[in-house]
Amino acid sequence: MTVIKTIKGRRVWDSRGNPTVEVDVVLENGVLGRAIAPAGASRGTREAIDLRDGGNALRGKGVGKALASVNGPIAEALAEREVSDQAGADQAMLALDSTPFKEVLGGNATVATSLALLHAAAADAGKPLWRHVADHYGCTPSVPLPEIQIFGGGAHAGRRVDIQDFMIMVPGASSFDEVMEVTNEVYFAAGDIMAERGKLAGIADEGGWWPMFDSNEEALETLVAAIEKAGEKPGERVVISLDVAASEFGKDGKYRLALEDRELDSGALIDMLGGWLDAYPIASIEDPVGEDDKAGMIEFTRRFGDRVQIIGDDYLVTNADLVREGATDGACNAVLVKVNQAGTVTESIDTFFAAQKAGWGAVVSARSGETEDASISHLSTGLGGGQLKVGSFQRSERMVKWNECLRIQDELGAGKFVGGKPMASTWWGKEQK
Ligand code: PGA
Ligand code: ZN
Repeated sequence: MTVIKTIKGRRVWDSRGNPTVEVDVVLENGVLGRAIAPAGASRGTREAIDLRDGGNALRGKGVGKALASVNGPIAEALAEREVSDQAGADQAMLALDSTPFKEVLGGNATVATSLALLHAAAADAGKPLWRHVADHYGCTPSVPLPEIQIFGGGAHAGRRVDIQDFMIMVPGASSFDEVMEVTNEVYFAAGDIMAERGKLAGIADEGGWWPMFDSNEEALETLVAAIEKAGEKPGERVVISLDVAASEFGKDGKYRLALEDRELDSGALIDMLGGWLDAYPIASIEDPVGEDDKAGMIEFTRRFGDRVQIIGDDYLVTNADLVREGATDGACNAVLVKVNQAGTVTESIDTFFAAQKAGWGAVVSARSGETEDASISHLSTGLGGGQLKVGSFQRSERMVKWNECLRIQDELGAGKFVGGKPMASTWWGKEQK
């Protein structure tokens, strides 16, 4: 029994230079737990609110109100609580805010607090965070398989291409270290090809190359060329993963590909993506249609759910009820788990278990606005979650998560890289061991 002594929020700054919330939880024995809230740019409309001050200062992004939640009602409600009771503490925060999206406290306030509590409980038990998560939730830990961005797009690269993330996965690797090595080769091969072709504008928000392609498909062609230049056969050790983030360019079943000056209805978008699935070794695809396009997501899953992982991000917003509904409807076969979409650790883990129960995949994920906080590397490992998405292969707020996985792999033993596979993919394993 160790109880919480103090909870203190402070303003720190994220990878985009925006203010964000850091929380310190200090226990009666002096043990500290600390975590920082991330921030999304392509946010789902049903996510927990990222509470900002508005007004002119700091472009309206001040976190004074969120800090007031932490230092006021949250600190008061959680003081003297037993730190290992994560569910009870999260529930106590929910009891302070009856709005569906945590509009009163702010999801940024609750997520930083909830993760800091998890850290404090782990430190109090003398365990690394991944071990605490595995023990507390009864999971078998394993180091996850990364999804790593090569090109940024959509809201992360000035909408220079419509599709948001062009990523690779290396499900044929036998260690996390090997994934990093292959990714290094592909990432820099892609940069070289783009520079040679005059298509490189710099680095996007998550560390991927900022492209100047003339079509969305040119990105796919370039990615295949980069995989080959790195000495790999696309579709063998290395496969492609996309986050279409379709809510960013479509509503009410109408989608506008600005780069190509084309308007598509839901069926035409599904046909276009289906064509890509035939032509390229794509093992995983996220938000292929918009968050409001339930019929489209059901149709996409009906047509392609037996050959590709279909992840709901904006579509499911880390919500266990929406996962259960999706499983009943036949929409998606995997969920993206972003702790700040739900707003607490408990709700996120409930979502993870709902996905597992449905026989779905689960990908723990960072946001486009990140920090040195590497909690998700531990969360993904501890849950034995299988897959982890943290952006690209450059910029420290990304690398800190990959590097943490390498340390965890050392602690767990190299054999524990199970590296979950993309759900349903027919690419994975074809030519593999
Ligand atoms: P966001 O994007 O963090 O900007 O919302 C990440 C994603 O869509 O997966
Ligand atoms: Zn997404």
